[in-house]
Amino acid sequence: MSFPKGFLWGGAVAANQCEGAYLEDGKGLSAADMLLGGDVHTPRTFFPSIIENKFYPSHQAIDFYHHYKEDIALFAEMGFKTFRTSINWSRIFPNGDDQEPNEAGLKFYEDMFTECKKHGIEPLVTLCHYEIPWNIVKNYEGFYSKKTIDLYVRYATTVMKRYKDLVKYWLTFNEINGASQPFGGYMGVGLVAKEDLETTEPIPTSKLKDQPQKRYEALHNQFLASAKVVIEGHKINPDFKIGCMLINIPWYPLTPNPKDELATQEMDTIFNDFCGDVQVLGHYNPIGLKALERQGIDTSYITEEDKALLKEGTVDMYTFSYYMSNCITVEEGSETTEGNFIGGVKNPYLKASDWGWQIDPQGLRYNLKRVASRYPGIPIMVVENGLGAVDKVEEDGSIHDNYRIDYLRSHIEEMGKAIDEGVPLIGYTTWGCIDVVSASTGEFHKRYGFIYVNRHDDGTGDFARSRKDSFYWYKKVIASNGEDL
Ligand code: BG6
Repeated sequence: MSFPKGFLWGGAVAANQCEGAYLEDGKGLSAADMLLGGDVHTPRTFFPSIIENKFYPSHQAIDFYHHYKEDIALFAEMGFKTFRTSINWSRIFPNGDDQEPNEAGLKFYEDMFTECKKHGIEPLVTLCHYEIPWNIVKNYEGFYSKKTIDLYVRYATTVMKRYKDLVKYWLTFNEINGASQPFGGYMGVGLVAKEDLETTEPIPTSKLKDQPQKRYEALHNQFLASAKVVIEGHKINPDFKIGCMLINIPWYPLTPNPKDELATQEMDTIFNDFCGDVQVLGHYNPIGLKALERQGIDTSYITEEDKALLKEGTVDMYTFSYYMSNCITVEEGSETTEGNFIGGVKNPYLKASDWGWQIDPQGLRYNLKRVASRYPGIPIMVVENGLGAVDKVEEDGSIHDNYRIDYLRSHIEEMGKAIDEGVPLIGYTTWGCIDVVSASTGEFHKRYGFIYVNRHDDGTGDFARSRKDSFYWYKKVIASNGEDL
């Protein structure tokens, strides 16, 4: 098993899940700031204004905003070659449509990226990770409005110009294909129905009104925005590598029933391939469009001019998150599983995490080969992967997270095999390299990190950082370029 020289080992977080300081230094509200916490059984809730005296997990998060130097030093101690984080759009343009950017926000990221470079860590920056400014959600219907394309392009080019010598790797939208699912309407494209904006009671995110037609039009606008940013970004610095980012979930037919096979193929078409085809190949796949039409979507919003732009603005690399696989069957009554954005049917061969996400290292290899065959030649990065688990702090402060090491080891082994089988994999950033707020549940005790953060679901904790066993293990993995697992 041979990871290539210069392989980008590292870790990933997102601004809204780690920074906190949600109104500091001129930052405006973002979509993520409006979500209260939930748990494995209870969805997070949404309310269109901040409720006094309620605990919002992301408002302080793990206070990375004030701890970033310490945290980056810890990443460097592990030997990180890259660190993936996002820029919180509402730190730069607090309302999204402001005339001028917020200098304090720009300065924060400049200092943070400079700190990374000081330690020899290459920043990998997501431009939009569920962080659409609240004003854009409220007054523009998110990406459903064509105006939001221009606002996003202005924001993206502002930061690309500012950090053109600090950041080389950019991702335009996190998990863009999440918008194929109802929850992606809120998190991904910033779309909230008028009646939900006028609610007087918090609404569980699972009950937010879905608007599929608008959701797909908003996704199309994100494709256009991404294409423009790829084109503009390359003008700012021709060395930029600008990628797409998708959630990848292998879907397996539960039985050999051809109906299960067809249902699985349909899911692959809509969920796994639809967005990648547009962003990598530069055109909508006709099979994908027909699948959408079968869902009742009128796709006449795609113009000839749009098609030309999509063709021109294709990405330089394909990146994805990978946590689980799921099964599909047309039979009713099968046991189901959970997942990020979407669950499925339980696979009798796999175990699941405490949050019901099925653990499938071989699924990662399957997926890598699938992507590499579909888009031959494009460099691939796995930019999220990890196990959300409960950690126990021993009396001496140590944390023995062997379950996390087992999970990561088995996935890295499969990545190595995929490379040997021809996949051009260039990097791997584990999710939540330091404990962060969970996106789906808002919990702190669903932990992914190599670094433990003393922060809890009741809002207690002093934000102190400590090294888990996995910290020392990952350090060894990186030092040996994936040989010593
Ligand atoms: C991905 C997201 O879907 O999964 C991250 O890009 C998220 O933001 C991660 O945190 C893990 O999900 P969760 O719900 O366990 O935090």
